[in-house]
Amino acid sequence: MTILEARQITKTYAVGDRNICVLDNVSVAVPAGEFLVIKGSSGSGKTTLLTLLSGLDKPSSGRILIEGRDITDLKEDELAPLRNTTIGFVFQSFHLAPSLTAMENIMFPAELRRDVRAEEKAEILLRRVGLIERSHNFPHQLSGGEKQRVAICRALINDPKIVFADEPTGNLDSANGKAVLELLLELQKERQSTLVLVTHSTEIAEMADRVVLLKDGKIVCDGARVH
Ligand SMILES: Nc1ncnc2c1ncn2[C@@H]1O[C@H](COP(=O)(O)OP(=O)(O)OP(=O)(O)O)[C@@H](O)[C@H]1O
Ligand SMILES: [Mg+2]
Repeated sequence: MTILEARQITKTYAVGDRNICVLDNVSVAVPAGEFLVIKGSSGSGKTTLLTLLSGLDKPSSGRILIEGRDITDLKEDELAPLRNTTIGFVFQSFHLAPSLTAMENIMFPAELRRDVRAEEKAEILLRRVGLIERSHNFPHQLSGGEKQRVAICRALINDPKIVFADEPTGNLDSANGKAVLELLLELQKERQSTLVLVTHSTEIAEMADRVVLLKDGKIVCDGARVH
């Protein structure tokens, strides 16, 4: 079953009096449960593609479908619940709220939907990622790897079907990066979710079910990995 699909999407930005095309007629269909890597050099359009696939921004043309539902023309208030529950995000620079503790950061998306089990779920996740002892630390009291593990918990608290990660190990040293990646993959398996991950790393791409290679806003290669 296809859980996520881009149909002939294009994204152009107006810069000064010029239009710059950063994604050019990109189509991709992601089956449920897949670990898809989007790879490509800096400026090739990876973040832009992730932003469009997840409904954070709109394509200039083309359609985006999540679970078969066309989300392209949905309004902000219609997209919000989708973003909060069907989708989880992990960013390179963590994006934790500095004034909230680890526990509060994780609970936040569950509280938005008035989940009475928010605290219980956050505790289970904190335990799962080995950070229960850090529950009451603020982000500035956590290491980079710990911050990313907290950000992963926050992305997962509403049990999303699709997790998007934009260079989630990009700000971490190689040991911490490896641990974070392994955690994302273990959690994906446990929860049978779909993982769409942007990376420069050939080593990470080798672990994916499939790699889409972007160059100058076009898909130049789309292939399953042979494990
Ligand atoms: N808001 C914007 N306005 C104009 N141009 C933009 C905008 N956002 C991105 N771009 C341009 O679009 C292109 C693709 O950007 P994008 O951030 O998707 O690249 P990327 O593949 O994620 O690169 P990196 O690996 O450096 O993160 C770049 O040339 C960038 O300058
Ligand atoms: Mg990027």
